[in-house]
Amino acid sequence: MTLHPHRRDILRTTRSAPETRALGHSLARHLRPGDTLCLYGELGAGKTTFSQGLAEGHGVTDLVTSPSFTLIHEHPGAITLYHVDLYRLSAADLSDIGIEELIGSQAVVAIEWAEHLPSDLRRDALEIEIGFDERDDHARRIRLHAPSQRGVQILFGLTEKLDVGPRA
Ligand SMILES: Nc1ncnc2c1ncn2[C@@H]1O[C@H](COP(=O)(O)OP(=O)(O)O)[C@@H](O)[C@H]1O
Ligand SMILES: [Mg+2]
Repeated sequence: MTLHPHRRDILRTTRSAPETRALGHSLARHLRPGDTLCLYGELGAGKTTFSQGLAEGHGVTDLVTSPSFTLIHEHPGAITLYHVDLYRLSAADLSDIGIEELIGSQAVVAIEWAEHLPSDLRRDALEIEIGFDERDDHARRIRLHAPSQRGVQILFGLTEKLDVGPRA
């Protein structure tokens, strides 16, 4: 198989919530302290489901729920995972929650509704866009996009694992 060391995108279709969770699980092992993931997609797309898999992959055993009400959930483990949901956040609140400090910390940070973040805080993050498939209620189109060199490195590791072809 030919590898593409500079690939910036991986596209996957999942056909169930467990499949989306499994993709998050697979990604977790390629992350290291300081990595940030920005999750995009409408309500019910599967951002929290993906994050649950991520947490499982990090060996987190407590339940990952949608953090909409508390904004930030901390999951201590070998690597600390912060699961953040900015759905209800206004720009005025951003500085209050210390998101900038989290992103600069030695933790993995997964952020739902990351479009609420200023773009300079998202610059190096791996982007995960989850879209619906109008033909199948249980299918999701998931695009992992790496704008930064670190993201490319993450996708390189993941690609080897998934054995994903260029047009998968
Ligand atoms: N392929 C799939 N991937 C993820 N979730 C799916 C899939 N198919 C159905 N679902 C369902 O869609 C919902 C996704 O919810 P959730 O992960 O909370 O979304 P979000 O956090 O994006 O609002 C869940 O009820 C899940 O069971
Ligand atoms: Mg959610």
